Amino acid sequence: MSEEQENRDYDHKASVRGFTSGQNLSSEENPKPTSGQEPFPVWLILVSVFLMIIGGYSLGTSNGGFGFSNSLQSGYEPSAPAGLTGKAPELSEFEKYVNAGEAVYKAVCNGCHQATGQGQGQIPPLVESEWITQGTERFAQIVLNGLTGPITVKGASYGAAVMPAQKGAINDKQVAQVMTYVRYKFGNISDSVVTKEMAELARQKFGDKANQYTASELSAEDVMLEGEQPDWLSPESDDTEAEGDSAAIFIDPEQIKS
Ligand code: HEC
Repeated sequence: MSEEQENRDYDHKASVRGFTSGQNLSSEENPKPTSGQEPFPVWLILVSVFLMIIGGYSLGTSNGGFGFSNSLQSGYEPSAPAGLTGKAPELSEFEKYVNAGEAVYKAVCNGCHQATGQGQGQIPPLVESEWITQGTERFAQIVLNGLTGPITVKGASYGAAVMPAQKGAINDKQVAQVMTYVRYKFGNISDSVVTKEMAELARQKFGDKANQYTASELSAEDVMLEGEQPDWLSPESDDTEAEGDSAAIFIDPEQIKS
């Protein structure tokens, strides 16, 4: 080996140094393989995919033993558990009416009297209020035209706040529904409802009033709005068993309340 050849390596200082120190390896060189990182052979991937396709196909066509009939005991009749029909329970006309009233209440009265009907501060409660459980005429007057001035509700005095008239915000049907809801929900009254016809009449009689009622202007506590109760309302009675059509409108207040 001539001296020239012998020194050749030293002419490529960078690469030699790099190689010996393990740094600056040229990117064209493959890194030393480390154990555990050997590439997965392509043929094995292909074989696996092929087996999965075959397996899936045979499961799909033959049921693979997982069919319902394979695990069925003889004599077993599949049926839904009692009380679980998969259908929503049928609502009675009364329930539907009350639900419609709840929607009106939420849209119109909720902000002041609260969802609980307990009121807040100077806004009086509706729960068990004598203004909702007694005469429907004065209740309708309040809803249609609002209320101002001192009023006593369940023994407590109010009067600092004013209730605005609601006659422009809701129509006769909504007045009837929301009154029915309030009487039922907060007064527990389920044997009579306020009908659209009653509300219509109330609007004719009292709707022209320019400003709010004061408590002393309201109708007497026992005056009810005139009108027939609807056919679908059948009050609970102990002596007559519900029969035929009336079975569908039998009212169970406990069920509606939840
Ligand atoms: C802007 C707030 C507000 C809204 C909305 C409102 N009220 Fe009132 N309500 C009051 C206030 C305030 C009073 C008490 C007025 C007073 O002190 O003279 C009152 C009084 C009443 C009363 C008589 C007192 C009592 O607590 O029993 C009834 C009944 C009533 N509201 C029902 C309703 C119904 C039903 C609605 C929805 C259709 C409604 N209010 C919407 C504020 C409101």
